[in-house]
Amino acid sequence: MNTPKRILFVGDLHTGGHHSVLPRKRLPEFPEFPGIRYLNDCWDNAVFNLPEMVDITFFMGDLVEGTNRKAEGTGLFSTKLSDQVESAIELLAPIAARSKTVFRVKGTDYHDSVHNPLLALDIELGVRKARQVFDVDLGSGILNVAHHPSGGGALYLGTKLDKEQRLAGLAALAKKVPHARWIFRAHLHNFAHFITPMREVILTPCWKLPDAYSVKGNYFGWQPDIGMVLMEEDERSLSGFRVVPILYDLPQPRVITQEELDGTMIDYVDVFDKPLEGFVELPEESEEGGTGDED
Ligand SMILES: [Fe+2]
Ligand SMILES: [Fe+2]
Repeated sequence: MNTPKRILFVGDLHTGGHHSVLPRKRLPEFPEFPGIRYLNDCWDNAVFNLPEMVDITFFMGDLVEGTNRKAEGTGLFSTKLSDQVESAIELLAPIAARSKTVFRVKGTDYHDSVHNPLLALDIELGVRKARQVFDVDLGSGILNVAHHPSGGGALYLGTKLDKEQRLAGLAALAKKVPHARWIFRAHLHNFAHFITPMREVILTPCWKLPDAYSVKGNYFGWQPDIGMVLMEEDERSLSGFRVVPILYDLPQPRVITQEELDGTMIDYVDVFDKPLEGFVELPEESEEGGTGDED
């Protein structure tokens, strides 16, 4: 029996949306989508630098953006889920090729859909099992993996992670679940790692920049982390494994300079913007006082 030594966690791609990683060949030349080009560079770098082989890869859910029905599909390259699934397959294929075993945890229904379109990805990439929650015996402890952290509001990430590990301990004491040594969760789009002598709780980062929904909902609070997480055997570590985040800077929003305020035009290409939704050239002042475009 081979004990897993290297485990990769990658998820929250949300591919198909205007703010998420997308295969290069599917990206239009115009508008430029600089944010996606940046994410693509980070993605290529992360995949290129992965170990040649990992024992298990977990796809952590929200692999596609979904039908985007609350915004009537306006934030998507295609509302057709099979197009989005094809994108996810193309992005994840090189990772699956380096993985002895691939598991997929189910994401949020709003994104991954209740119709399970990712079944095509499972077949194409050789996903051995797709389910809501996994418990895997790593020899030195149980690895528990799911998309959603336990519910309930809390401002502090540490509070959420501590709550998760305490609830895990109570449920295990009541003999309702196996005793989890490592708990991996996604969904919140932030990386965090909470360690106690009993348990570690890890939140995995994402591949989606802030979108209109997150900016509107909680501008400062919902700034994501970009990347993936590797878990590697390490004898010096308390649990026998070390957790290695692979993270990339989030591009900062563009600041309008004083020089630009004096000029007539502001360069509208912001890494977060869908181009053409940002700033546009101000109309020349006309003698009639209008732009002539009102009709
Ligand atoms: Fe997500
Ligand atoms: Fe989610």
